[in-house]
Amino acid sequence: MFENLFRLDRKVAIVTGAGNGLGRAFSLGLAAHGATVICADRNLEGADETASLAKQSRGVAEALHVDVADESSVDTMWNKIAAEYGRIDILINNAGIATKTARTHEFSLEDWDQLMAINLRGVFLVTRRALALMLPGPGSIINIASIAALRGYWPGFPSLAVNYSTSKAGVIGFTRQVAAEYAKEKIRVNAIAPGWHGGTALGAARRASVTPDEIAAFEEAIHRRIPMGYRGTPDDLVGLVVYLASDASHYVTGQVIAHDGGWDAIVA
Ligand SMILES: NC(=O)c1ccc[n+]([C@@H]2O[C@H](COP(=O)([O-])OP(=O)(O)OC[C@H]3O[C@@H](n4cnc5c(N)ncnc54)[C@H](O)[C@@H]3O)[C@@H](O)[C@H]2O)c1
Repeated sequence: MFENLFRLDRKVAIVTGAGNGLGRAFSLGLAAHGATVICADRNLEGADETASLAKQSRGVAEALHVDVADESSVDTMWNKIAAEYGRIDILINNAGIATKTARTHEFSLEDWDQLMAINLRGVFLVTRRALALMLPGPGSIINIASIAALRGYWPGFPSLAVNYSTSKAGVIGFTRQVAAEYAKEKIRVNAIAPGWHGGTALGAARRASVTPDEIAAFEEAIHRRIPMGYRGTPDDLVGLVVYLASDASHYVTGQVIAHDGGWDAIVA
């Protein structure tokens, strides 16, 4: 009775930001559990590589170009998906960026606007079209927020930025509202708030704008603060994504689940 609880056979899934980092791990994890996975990214080469890796493990995947911040690009992608598959069962809103960091009184409007267009407007644009294709339901939408949405963090220097934290808090509000609107149709909407997961390109802009000593201070500060004492990896998140995508979580909606080695459980 319970042996197929996590299987995703005959499900069509889309992962945005699938060309690198967490999105690549999510795509491979969903494919390994039987889903057909559309790997969408503005970096088509990266998305192609993810789809090839999924196929090498006998998964079913294809790559599509999308810039989630651009309405016409999102529409083009969804038109292709509608024509090819006619439906979508699982959406992972994962595409996101971080900019260089600074305290708020020194923060640039350009970095604020650029990030909001991808991290927040992008989630709205992609989800709006996904819902139209998911109805009459069921379906599962998983939004990638961050522990940065849950509380502030100031180890004495800028390691997080106000644009990023604000966008991810917005993703959580978006998650709860959409969950409420579509619960009757069994379209479930949940958010994951990852802590510090290494091996991705997310911090590249920050790393490029600070000295090696500052990077070392940052690494030391976060490791000291994580109760489990180490960073997660993208692969560590796959179990939670498969759980939320599958029938194993069929009565779970509107939730935010931190995946953070205990970061959010303690007072630093
Ligand atoms: N790595 C972490 O520790 C961590 C922690 C919390 C939240 N997150 C979130 O996880 C998500 C993935 O981050 P990551 O660490 O894998 O970063 P990453 O930079 O390695 O990967 C992000 C991917 O998103 C794509 N992307 C960026 N802008 C896009 C756009 N406009 N349209 C389409 N694709 C776009 C990039 O090309 C890239 O392939 C982000 O939303 C990030 O905020 C990551």
